[in-house]
Amino acid sequence: MAVKLAVIPVAGRGTRLIPLTKSLPKEMLPVGRKPVVQYVVEELDRCGLQKLLFITGPTKIAIENHFDLDMELINHLRETGKEELLNELAFEKADLQYFYTRQRRQLGLGHAILCAESFVGNEPFVVALGDTILGVNAKGRIVERMIEVFEERDADAVIAFEEVPEDEVHRYGIAKPVNMDDPDIFQLAGIVEKPSAADAPSRMAVASRYVFKPKIFDFLYKTKPGKNDEIQLTDAIQAMIAAGGKVFGVRVTAQEHRFDIGNYESYFLAFLEFALADPDHGDAIREKIKQMVK
Ligand code: UTP
Repeated sequence: MAVKLAVIPVAGRGTRLIPLTKSLPKEMLPVGRKPVVQYVVEELDRCGLQKLLFITGPTKIAIENHFDLDMELINHLRETGKEELLNELAFEKADLQYFYTRQRRQLGLGHAILCAESFVGNEPFVVALGDTILGVNAKGRIVERMIEVFEERDADAVIAFEEVPEDEVHRYGIAKPVNMDDPDIFQLAGIVEKPSAADAPSRMAVASRYVFKPKIFDFLYKTKPGKNDEIQLTDAIQAMIAAGGKVFGVRVTAQEHRFDIGNYESYFLAFLEFALADPDHGDAIREKIKQMVK
């Protein structure tokens, strides 16, 4: 069955970015010329997804407004002779259906995905974290490649992975591959949440895109709250593998490098890289930075 449905969790409180995120969703923070979640939606559109379900929360209403067709703004631009700016609103016209449901308590990513269960029904679905962009201007098609692997191998889940330096493995879910004969596509013997460098089974870190059969819900229901009393998606995936589930990893390319907008260092670096790639201002900014760091 073709994968047409994507779940985008955006309900987390973003406490690492307070005060920015007190009333502003972190998924709406600007990176270059667009808010983070617009890159995510454009990536999914390009990869053939058609229905998007946002798992949202009380401080996230700006996300719904952003994807609305804003006729008042469109008319205003026309009436004031600013038609050229209409191109910037082209994303509003994407052939996508938007749905929203609330995660009423922020009990972790696994719990956020459980909120999608009745919407998903028996269909396979993508999960794309709303606070993570893959690659400068999100030009890659990792989700499309993941769906191909999902269908060809009749997988229960496919997960995107990025190789990280040894001193960063403690921040991520890390793959335990069956083998690495093909480093671009590999089956998982397990997955470990935030291991120490000494215990890490590889340096392949989960890169915030997943494809699942609805079977994952059975394992999410059985997953006990872990760290911070949150239901961890990684624990449910590990349980699925332990029960004989077929789970594959697909490696992102260098152009699909993950920008996680969940902490300041990564957010600042993302903005900087996108600004440097800006067609109008990139070169001038590069020159200014050279002078600043002299
Ligand atoms: P994070 O793991 O970065 O958690 O979420 P967070 O709660 O947003 O951030 P901190 O730790 O408080 O700074 C990764 C993605 O999962 C969503 C977030 O919105 C983000 O897009 N998420 C997280 C939920 O939808 N619900 C949750 O309960 C937790």
